[in-house]
Amino acid sequence: MTVDATRRTALAATALALAAPRAFAQAPIVIKFSHVVANDTPKGNGSDFFAKRAAELTKGRVKVEVYPNSQLYKDKEEMEALQLGSVQMLAPSLSKFAPLGVKEFEVFDFPYIFDGYGDLHKITEGGVGKGLMAKLDAKGITGLAFWDNGFKSFSANRKLLVPEDMKGLKMRIQSSKVLEAQMRALGAIPQVMAFSEVYQGLQTGVVDGTENPHSNLYSQKMNEVQKNVTITDHGYIGYAVVVNKKFWDGLPADIRAQLGQAMDEATRFTNEQAKKDNDEALVKIKATGKTEVLALTKEQKAPWKRALAKVHKEMEPRVGSEILQAVYKETGFDPAKL
Ligand code: LMR
Repeated sequence: MTVDATRRTALAATALALAAPRAFAQAPIVIKFSHVVANDTPKGNGSDFFAKRAAELTKGRVKVEVYPNSQLYKDKEEMEALQLGSVQMLAPSLSKFAPLGVKEFEVFDFPYIFDGYGDLHKITEGGVGKGLMAKLDAKGITGLAFWDNGFKSFSANRKLLVPEDMKGLKMRIQSSKVLEAQMRALGAIPQVMAFSEVYQGLQTGVVDGTENPHSNLYSQKMNEVQKNVTITDHGYIGYAVVVNKKFWDGLPADIRAQLGQAMDEATRFTNEQAKKDNDEALVKIKATGKTEVLALTKEQKAPWKRALAKVHKEMEPRVGSEILQAVYKETGFDPAKL
């Protein structure tokens, strides 16, 4: 090879080497965000909002890939995948953290413990919520935010007017001992089942009924296989948006700050939309004409509250007196008044 040709080859190789770092730097950091609900729900819309803002604020240095509706992982598997680092972000229901060893999160499952979103936000936006998130660190998880869904109704294929109507029903629940105690207090038979399996469970009769906010009932078409929905507002479903701690701590500080801003914006967006999403879903359930919706009055809720009151004393040891009394104090809730 002539001297000139050798020189040209060396120059080309140098130019390529100089270009490579820039080209390499343009490969975005990918965050896989897996969840179990449909897109048009508070959590589905919130995760899409976060993905959009994360890309904008980091100027494309981060790409959030959202995998909705249990596409990637379903209930139990998603938490394991997060700890292994197979996915980087989740937003599981607060009822699903006990299998991680953080039983205190089941305080959100106590019946009638929150009298609306205002009471609830005293916990999720205050010191009690912060203390709960801190408990995740030891599990290799960083809690980023609390997102709302809403207050639960019961559904079944029989009218549920009084607690006695629940007797003997096989009721699907999330993996929560407090929810198990709730169903037993009503004379029902609790059955833990992954969210992605609930529609089929109801359709085939493996379970007779379930509980969820209306956005989940409607978006999973559960109302098509449930003749009755009773609006009891007996419990709450919300989420902790969590990230793999090793991944999060390993991000460049500026990117972590930009993602934190995207998460703050997505939290505001989700929590402002949640009640509207559930109200709209209820209108759609009623419009199908296939499901009878019974909205309990304050008086009609009274026997349900009385029947469920014992869950508080019974399950206090489960979550620990400290967290339960802290929620009572922060919200002014008095179980004796149920
Ligand atoms: C359920 O499993 O019923 C819900 O937690 C699903 C969800 O994430 O809203």
